[in-house]
Formats: sequence, structure tokens, C-alpha cells
Amino acid sequence: MNTISDPPKEVNQESAFMLYNHVCAALSELDMEVVCSVPSGGNWRNLPATTIAKSARLTQISNSGGRTTYYGRLDGNLPSYTINTYFNRPGNGTFIHPSQNRLISLREAARLQSFSDGYRFLGSLSSRFKQIGNAVPPLLGMAIGEKIKVGRCVDLFCGAGGLSTGLAHAGHRIIVASDFNEHMCETYRYNHEKTRVIQANMFVQDELIHLLDAIESNLKGRTLNLLAGGPPCQGFSTAGKWSSTDTRNSLIFRTLEFVKKLAPESVLLENVPGIRSLQQGKILNLLLDALRVEGYHPQTLLLKAEEYGTPQRRRRIFILGSRSGDLIETPEELFSEVVQGRTRKHIKKEHDGLPPPISVSEAISDLPEIPSGGGIDTTEYDYSWMKSDYQKYMRGLISLEDLLSKRTK
Ligand SMILES: C[S@@+](CC[C@H](N)C(=O)[O-])C[C@H]1O[C@@H](n2cnc3c(N)ncnc32)[C@H](O)[C@@H]1O
Repeated sequence: MNTISDPPKEVNQESAFMLYNHVCAALSELDMEVVCSVPSGGNWRNLPATTIAKSARLTQISNSGGRTTYYGRLDGNLPSYTINTYFNRPGNGTFIHPSQNRLISLREAARLQSFSDGYRFLGSLSSRFKQIGNAVPPLLGMAIGEKIKVGRCVDLFCGAGGLSTGLAHAGHRIIVASDFNEHMCETYRYNHEKTRVIQANMFVQDELIHLLDAIESNLKGRTLNLLAGGPPCQGFSTAGKWSSTDTRNSLIFRTLEFVKKLAPESVLLENVPGIRSLQQGKILNLLLDALRVEGYHPQTLLLKAEEYGTPQRRRRIFILGSRSGDLIETPEELFSEVVQGRTRKHIKKEHDGLPPPISVSEAISDLPEIPSGGGIDTTEYDYSWMKSDYQKYMRGLISLEDLLSKRTK
């Protein structure tokens, strides 16, 4: 593993006895009725017809056979489904606590995203759902970061800092990070004290130029080793408006302006797997071609978060480009994957003899009971609550290597 040169804030002396962000969203009366009817591992299909009839959305989902992740309750024995930005609503995924009648808290979602307990989310409550749901799990960022030569790194569209945290753990030094949202920047700044955080909207040319100038003045002529970023791909979702001759509309192509100007040794862009099928693959090919034109050797890797220690089924694409021409190998899987069964997902334990992925219970079973719509943003953590090695890892008591070796035994 690379040496950690500039680690983000982890559980330290200041936070060792604290538990942050253990608060959850409130439920409407009807949503509470739904929550109380769904068993562990269940979803809207478990609801009685009388409850379904009370909601237009539930009726529509039930008539059209909507996704079985909707109105889902987590199964403590498995990794969670993908934590998206809507874990404040039961109808948009599987976000009901495995045993309590409430949604998961910010801290529980952060644990399922592999953010350690020292990582604190600031800003409005609605922003914090986005900060956590949008993030690259730090353990996933670390897995890919370990495959890239370390040095100075810039993180564009940094959000709350999931990708940066992983890269920092792999030894990359994040010199500048940027996002246009003030709450994202606030959280990022708090957790990455040594990084210069610049709030800039990439659609505003002046702000983009200011950001470029700030990076260049920080570099003082030295090489930028890695330009990283997780640009949102909403630019492509207005499919009808997209034109192959006007790529300025999309934020992912704005990133290329930084590649051109800064000529980093490597580029790393994170995105959803769906980017491969956008415009029948045209967008991705255009991006890979643009990287080739700039002298990079591009490649893509699809990684599964649970295989690298995150207690969550989340798939992400990493688009990489290196000027040296060295291709990056897929990081070695540490845990087995979760595969989708015909009716229920199950864990493919026999996969190369790897240990099973971390489950929801292992991730959150120590956290105290809180009421729906309640919880406390800052409270004391009692070490007698601790039940699993993953919880020890989250509290900074053991390393990922310790966790893995105990599990392999
Ligand atoms: C997918 S998230 C990035 C998550 C981040 N990589 C992480 O791991 O935590 C995309 C980010 O792009 C930011 N963003 C969206 N539009 C932007 C714009 N026009 N300029 C700058 N940032 C923007 C959002 O605020 C959001 O934080």
C-alpha cells in the first residue's frame, strides 16, 4: 500500500469519543404505515392492498411491477443496495433500517459508504443526504488510487470528498478540490484541512479560469500527477438536446479543458455504469477519443464496491488515461461479490475463496436506537456498543488489512 502523505480527518483524539450525524429523516403517516409493514429484506410487494390503495405512487408501482428495491427494508445479513441521494425517502430505494421503524441515519448511510466515523458531514440536512449518496465510497477510491502513481492530485466536482478520501488513503496528495455547492465545500474543507477548496461553477467561464489559475499557481510549474473527478452526467440526460458538435454542454467535457491546460500524468473520472450506453455508447467513445487526442491512453474499469470492503452493492465506472501508456490493472478483489439471484440476491461465497462481503449488520449494529425523524447530530460513542471488526475499522481501531486478515482466518 502507498504511504499516506496527507490523510483526511479520520477518527482522531478529538473525535475518538464522539458519534456524528446519527440523525434520520421524518416519515409521513402513510410512509410510517408502509415502513411498519415491510419485513427485513422485503419491499413494496409485502404491503397489504389497503395500504397500496392509499397512495397513487404505490398503486402505480404495484400496477406496473416497479423495482423490488423500492420501499425496501435492509437485510442485516447482506451488503445494502446502492445508497443514492434519496435515503430520506422510503419509496426511492432500500433505506429502511433492518430492525427499527425508521429510515437509516446519515451516519448509517456514511458507514454503508465506508466513510469512517471521524468524517463529519456539515451543511443543511437535505444537502447531507446528497453529500453521502453522491460520494464514491472511500474504500473504492482507495482501491483504484493504489493502482495510480501517487503525487499531486486535483479533484474536480469533489462533493463531500469520498473519492478524495480514498485517493488520500492510497497516498495521493490532494492539493486543490472544487465543487460549485457551498455545503459540499464546507464538508470537504472540514475533513481535508490541507487541501485548498475552491467553490466554482464549471459552467461559468470566469470561475473556471479562476480555478485553473489557482491550480497553476499552486503547482508553480511542477507536474500534476493526477487529475481526478466525478462529474455529474445529468448533462446527458436531456438526450434530445445533446449534440455531438457542441460538447460544451456537458460537465464531463469541461473536465477536458483542465486536461488540456494542466497536462496531468494521469486522469481518473468516475461515473455511473449507464454512461456506457448513453447515446448508444457515443458519449463514452467521444470522451475516450478526446483523451487520445490529448496524448493519453484511455481505458475503463467497472468496479464493484462490495469487493473492496464497502458494505454496499454499488457499481461504478472509472475512466482512466495515462500519458505514459501504462494500463492500470483491475485492483485485486478482497471480498466476494453480491450477485443478483432470480428472485433474491445472494452472496457468491465460492468466488475464488474470498471472504464474504461486509453486511449491513456488521456495518451499523452498534449504533444506538433513534426515533424516526430524530437522532442527535453530535453525541458520545460508547465503546461497549461495538460488535464487529468493521465497526472497529470505522472507529479507527484497526486497519483494513487487520479486518481482512481476521476475516480470512
Ligand atoms: C457525483 S458528485 C461527486 C462526488 C464526489 N466525487 C465524491 O466522491 O464525494 C458530483 C458533484 O458535482 C457538483 N456539480 C454539479 N454541477 C456542477 C457545476 N456546474 N460546477 C461545479 N460542480 C458541480 C455537485 O455539487 C456534486 O457535488
